[in-house]
Amino acid sequence: MADVPSPPSPPIIVTENLTKVYASGQVKVAALRGVSIEVERGEFLAIVGPSGSGKSTLFYLLGGLTRATHGKLIIDGVDFASLNDAERTRLRKQRIGFVFQRFNLLPTLTAMGNIEIAYAVSGRKETMDRSFLDHLTELLSIRGRLEHRPAELSGGEQQRVAIARALIARPAIVLADEPTGNLDSNNSDAVLAMLLKLNRDLGQTTLMITHNPEAAAIADRILHLRDGEIVGQERGPRALPSAPGFGSSASVAEPPSAAD
Ligand SMILES: Nc1ncnc2c1ncn2[C@@H]1O[C@H](COP(=O)(O)OP(=O)(O)O)[C@@H](O)[C@H]1O
Ligand SMILES: [Mg+2]
Repeated sequence: MADVPSPPSPPIIVTENLTKVYASGQVKVAALRGVSIEVERGEFLAIVGPSGSGKSTLFYLLGGLTRATHGKLIIDGVDFASLNDAERTRLRKQRIGFVFQRFNLLPTLTAMGNIEIAYAVSGRKETMDRSFLDHLTELLSIRGRLEHRPAELSGGEQQRVAIARALIARPAIVLADEPTGNLDSNNSDAVLAMLLKLNRDLGQTTLMITHNPEAAAIADRILHLRDGEIVGQERGPRALPSAPGFGSSASVAEPPSAAD
């Protein structure tokens, strides 16, 4: 029999016509107006858009932190609509690591305490892999800072601890919302380089949301969000050969010009 190439593995994240309407009293705000995306396993995807375009709303939906008004969300083959709240929480803890703009470390715990509690929350049965912890903290250059509390760390160090916390339980997906939003440019560059290196080394899927096109430029693929809709996509300069390029998503236009 001739060699048959193995079929490509299905996308790890699929959304179909994802819609979110916030209703406060009489006023309704359509924050997302039908977002359909596919994210390949191992891909580093950036979603870039201006303030108010719906980035955080998409982050909360993809992370299972809120429910969509309409549309479909499938993570690792599991349709979120089929899950009850407890199942949704379990899926989130096991498969997704979160990185936030404001780091969100617990202030009373040391850096190490923050990483350990994240591991405990993940519900993994096996004990924390110390050699993996060493690898992670070495790569993030925080090995000497693990006994410090967040207030004793710089912003860049806090974000690197937050990345270690997000990755310690080896989630399949890392979601980052404006991870460099509170950092100066040196720290921002360092954090981006580390996110990319970890994505490559560990093979997890990374989805970074940002308003900053320069930060987005490190990604394999960049989607442009405007007024709650995906209006374009482009491939990043360092795209993996296996990452999907133009045309992988049927109805996506060219990226908007800088004048938009
Ligand atoms: N809880 C909420 N209630 C009402 N409107 C909201 C809420 N959260 C966000 N919005 C609105 O939805 C839109 C998208 O917000 P958001 O997702 O935070 O955008 P971004 O992160 O790109 O700045 C904005 O118009 C915002 O005012
Ligand atoms: Mg936001």
